[in-house]
Order: sequence, then structure tokens, then C-alpha cells
Amino acid sequence: MIHADGKKFLLQGKNYGYAMCVTETGFLQHLHYGGKITEADLQYLIGIGKSTAPDPADVNKDMALNLMPGEFGFYAHGDFREPTAVFERTDGATVSRLRYENYSIKQGAPALQGLPHVRSGGETLIVTLKDDFSDIAVDLYYTVYDDSDVLVRNAVIRNTGKERVMLKKAFSFRVDLSGGNFKMLRLGGNWARERIPEIAPIAHGVTKLQSLYGCTSHMTNCFMGILKEHCTEECGECFGVQLIYSGSFALTAEWRKDAPLTLQGGIADIGFGWELCGGEAFTTPQALLTYSDEGLGGMSRSIHDFIRERIVNPASAFRRRPLLVNNWEATYFDFNNEKLFPIIDEAAKLGIDTFVLDDGWFGKRDSDWSGLGDWFVNEKKLKGGLKTVIDRCKQNGLKFGLWFEPEMVNEDSELYRAHPDWAIHKEGAELCRSRQQLVLDFTRKEVVDYVFGVVSKILKENDISYVKWDMNRNITENYSASLPAHRQGEFMHRYILGVYDLAERLTSAFPNVFFEGCAGGGARFDAGMLYYFPQIWTSDDTDGFERTKIQWGTSVCYPLSAMSCHVSVCPNHQTGRTTPFETRGNVASLGAFGYELDLSKMTDEEKELTKKQVDNYKRTEELILKGDLYRLMNPLEQNYFCEMVVSKDKTEAYVVGERILGIPCDYNQYVYLRGLDEERLYHIEELDITASGKALANAGLLLPKLRDFGSWAWHLKKVK
Ligand code: GLA
Repeated sequence: MIHADGKKFLLQGKNYGYAMCVTETGFLQHLHYGGKITEADLQYLIGIGKSTAPDPADVNKDMALNLMPGEFGFYAHGDFREPTAVFERTDGATVSRLRYENYSIKQGAPALQGLPHVRSGGETLIVTLKDDFSDIAVDLYYTVYDDSDVLVRNAVIRNTGKERVMLKKAFSFRVDLSGGNFKMLRLGGNWARERIPEIAPIAHGVTKLQSLYGCTSHMTNCFMGILKEHCTEECGECFGVQLIYSGSFALTAEWRKDAPLTLQGGIADIGFGWELCGGEAFTTPQALLTYSDEGLGGMSRSIHDFIRERIVNPASAFRRRPLLVNNWEATYFDFNNEKLFPIIDEAAKLGIDTFVLDDGWFGKRDSDWSGLGDWFVNEKKLKGGLKTVIDRCKQNGLKFGLWFEPEMVNEDSELYRAHPDWAIHKEGAELCRSRQQLVLDFTRKEVVDYVFGVVSKILKENDISYVKWDMNRNITENYSASLPAHRQGEFMHRYILGVYDLAERLTSAFPNVFFEGCAGGGARFDAGMLYYFPQIWTSDDTDGFERTKIQWGTSVCYPLSAMSCHVSVCPNHQTGRTTPFETRGNVASLGAFGYELDLSKMTDEEKELTKKQVDNYKRTEELILKGDLYRLMNPLEQNYFCEMVVSKDKTEAYVVGERILGIPCDYNQYVYLRGLDEERLYHIEELDITASGKALANAGLLLPKLRDFGSWAWHLKKVK
């Protein structure tokens, strides 16, 4: 719901209010973001705003604007916090001062051209600001939903004059939170350790979460959680900000003791530049701002619903996910028909429905030194081509999926020999050859067109129902020979626009193919990618304990249905650890489930367990796709992991837990279930216990006595 009169603005979501006003001197002042307020409160808030921030009536007075909570920070004119955008004019001047111009309200969410965006619904307020010193106008977009706690923001920067302007920074949003003692939750990590949550107090100055990797990165996800004092997993107030963006990004939190906490974010400003000629506009990526007064868990549940319902393609968001086996950890590059067929045959016997052929099926791809870019089958390895493998799948009633890494090329490839200039490079700068490969210059349309052509050909000529789109290195030598010198700052953003263009074209041309994203595990796990690919390979680490931390952290701002989770062999290839087969299955069942091992080499006991896991997944799949997640025991803080998913109508729930180490005298532990209807009775099948939702929440359940990495899975059903 939006209330606006040109002087005051109030946005009301399900449980939050967001207010701003125009000051007497024409500045857009932020008034409130947090729990609900009413329209009648706006006058009161305007009063407080005046008493807490210096009256900016005299705009020429130095510092007058420095403390005013704002909606979009400008540069070099009295607000010394980091600006939201910087525009440089032809005389080199960057001074700007943006004042309110007008507003409009539109039904629905804006569809951004070439960028992933929120797909539907809502009501959008557009507030236009105009620079006092140039012809730049900025449109601030706010999309509000009555039934959601997610507010969608972005900014469009327009050059309304004739003179060229260079954008030196163009973030998507700014919001100022009043109060103090905030903490920040960030999702940091590394390869095979993605999105491990860390919570720490926010210190004085600017805290910046950023990726300059050309993708979201293993190291820092494009999400920032802000916790008010006393906020916990289930109680208290917090905010989440995240970008619908997959390239280099930055999110900042700036705090001074006498000012609000300023949150901003968007495309990474380091190295960024964009030429905006007269009449042109630059659209920044959308950001999701989420408010919760039910702790971090409440924030996550709001984000999960929003991503599933409004960002993921509705054709796949709630569609049954392929239950697959992938051959990567089973064979790596070393396979032929004789090695693949037993995996396919066994998959069918175990109830698995899709076989995914990973890296190594094309060109001269016997190791990671060669072949990338040559998207035609390697008949030396696969006699009879893909058709033979697909036929084998069909004979077994399986569907077939295929791995691609469309953005990459090896120097030892036909593609590179034909078009060496298509690989990103800067003459005179030695090339970084991460994983022995180079990145194709996706800022160039002819390169994207070529890749679209070759990948489409494979998809058209073969019966392929699943594609795993990988991206296995970061971007270096940021430079394109196709851009003039003064526009090289556009390179990184144009690269990701090229990726989005290819993703859009391939997913539209092949609507029946199910796409999974991947980037050396989970280096490009973000809401931008989820717009095109409904699920993403969460991490190359499939260890039954490490995954509890990775999946816990990922679930902070991404739904379970977005996380591909596979059972692999032990000792685990990444950690060398041995965990029970049952535990690996239980942990993987909290996501889009599958296997990543040589099924034909499993013991009879493992095969029996696999059949049970497959049955279990079929049974819990609806909950994973649609349910509400409650994180109960945090493996980063205690010796247990436990999460549960509850159906929206609260008639069913699924609880998975793991005891990490066998520590003596550690058995008198309870788990307290959440999200159930307290007035109803539930039967827990595995324990043969019937108890009320109230008892399960307040008295809890005694945990089973388990050894190292032992686990449990409980199915709860409402008793009639
Ligand atoms: C990445 C992926 C793996 C696998 C390999 C293939 O590391 O994360 O799952 O596909 O590439 O090279």
C-alpha cells in the first residue's frame, strides 16, 4: 500500500512501514524503516526528523545535509557519507545536489530490460530527483507488496541534457536506519566453504562487502543482514539487503556515532564507469530489502517466499525437481560408455530419474587443459556420440542432462585457435590462467551469439532435459578491445549483461529444459541467477558435516528449493572425512536432491539406503519446494545441526538433524520444534510419538543418542 501526496510518502508492506518526506528546501528525507506506522504518524515523524537532524533550510551552509537521513546520497556538496552515485561532467566536475522533482505510482513491478528482476505484482512508487548542477535526474523505484515484507528498490539515472556525463558510481539504493548497536550478518567463505554466516557488531566507519571477481564469488555473497540489539534466530528485529545481481558488487554499511546507519549497494564501484550520453538512462540492478520482527528466521522465510513466488521462473519454481545422478565425482574426466552405462542402469533400479553427464564429453577434454569452447561431442570417449548415452538412459526410463561451461575457452581448443581475440585479455598484461582456462569476452555480441548457436545446436539435436551451466573461474584483465578507452569501466557490468542475455535466450528457446546454475560450486549463488535457473549447485563440498554449515548459511537468504544437494562417496573428496551414508542422505534431503557417485560401486546396504532416500525425497519434495524453514540448532555454535520444514497449512513437517561429534556426557539434549500449530496434535512416525504442537515447541524432544556425524530424519503429520 502506498500513501503519497508529493510531500509525504508511506509504503506499507505486510509488517513494515517505510516513510519519507520532502523537506521545506526540497530534499527527500528518510523518516522511518521498521515496524508498521500509520499515515497519521507521518507528521510526528517529520517533527522528530527536524529535531534529530540539522534543519537543512540553508542549503549553502557547509555540513547542513551531512546528518539528514536520505534516500540517495550525492557527492561533494555537504553530505560527506559515501555517495550513492557519482556523475562526472565534461569539465571534470562531480559536485551534485539532488532535490525532489515529482512522483508517480504504477501498478506492478518494473520489468528491467536485460537485467533479472522481480516478475510480478505489487505497486510501485517512483520518486524523481533532479540535480541542481547538471541535467541528471534520478528515478527511485520502490515496489511494495501487501502480502510480503520484501521491498524492492532500484534507481534509474537519466541524462536529460545534451552534454555527456560519466557515471563513476551507480548504486541501486540507500536506506538509513535509525538507532544504534546494530550487528551485521555476512555470508563469507571460500571455495567449498561458501556462505558461512558471521555475525559481528558494526564498527565506526564504512564496512564494505564486495566482490571484484566478476561473479558473486565464493568469498562474499551479495547479502547483508542487519540485526538490531537482542535479535536472535527467532526473535527481534532485523533487516536483509541483497542484490538481484550476479556480477562484481558492493554493499556498504556506514556508521558514525551521531548519525543513522547508512546502507547502500549495487554494482561494484571500483573500476566502474559508464558513459551516459544526452537522452540516455542507466538502470541499476534491483535490491531486495526485507524487514523482520521475527528474528533471522522470519527474515529468511519472507525472502524464501519472495524468491520462489516472484523471482524464479513460475514454470519451474514449484515444479518437481529432477532426481538425478551426476557422474563428476564418479569418473571426473576419465569416462567412456562402459563406465557410464553401469551408473545409468543402476540409477534406474534405484528410482533415480535423470542422469547428468558432467565435464569432459566434448572437444579434446581429457583434463582441464583443453577443450573448453568446443561444444561438439568427443566421439573417442563416447562411441556413437551423445545419442548412445541418451538411448541408454531412455532404455532405462531416465532423462538426460548435460554440463556446459558456456563462458569459457581453453587455449588448446579449436575455438581459441579460430578466435584468440574472443578471450578476455589486455595486450601487455600477462594472462591469469585460472584452472588453465580463459574467459570469453561476453561484452561482445558476436561472442554471445556464437555461444548461443553452438549450445542451441546440441540442445536441438539431442533429447536433453537438463542443463548444468558452470562457470569455473574469476575474471581478470578486465578489458575489451571492442570498447573505446573512456568506456573500459563498463566492461564488468557489460560482461554480466552478456551472461544474462545468453541465459535469457537459451531458457526462452528451450522452455522444457531444466537449468541448474553452478560456478566452481557456489560462486554465483544469487537472486539474479535464480531468475534464470531455478536451482544452483550449492558447493563442491559434499561432506555430510561441512554441508550443514554451508546449507545453513545459504538458507539465510535463499530457499531450500534453490540449493542442489547431492550424496557423494566417503572418504569425502574434499575433506577426506567419513560420515554415515544415511547422514549424507539426510543432509542432502534439505534441498534439490541427487547423487554424485558411481552408483554401480555401492554396497548392497548403500543401495537399499538409496532406495529409501529416493522414496523419502519423493515424500518430502513438496515441503522442500513450498514449506516454511525453521533453523533450530546451529552447527556453527553447537555440537548439533537441526532444521525443519513445515507445510504452509501446518499439517505436515520434516525435521532433519545431525550430532556432530561423539562427546561424552552430551546426551541430555532437546530440540524445540517451531512453526507447528500449537493447538493441534502431531504424530512423529519414526519415534511413534503423538504430542501437541505446544508440547513439541515448549517441552521439546529428547535427541537420539548418536555417534560422530549420526543423524535423524523425522516425519510429522497432523493427527485428525
Ligand atoms: C566445477 C563444478 C563441479 C564440476 C566441475 C567440472 O567445479 O562445481 O560440480 O561440474 O566444475 O569441471
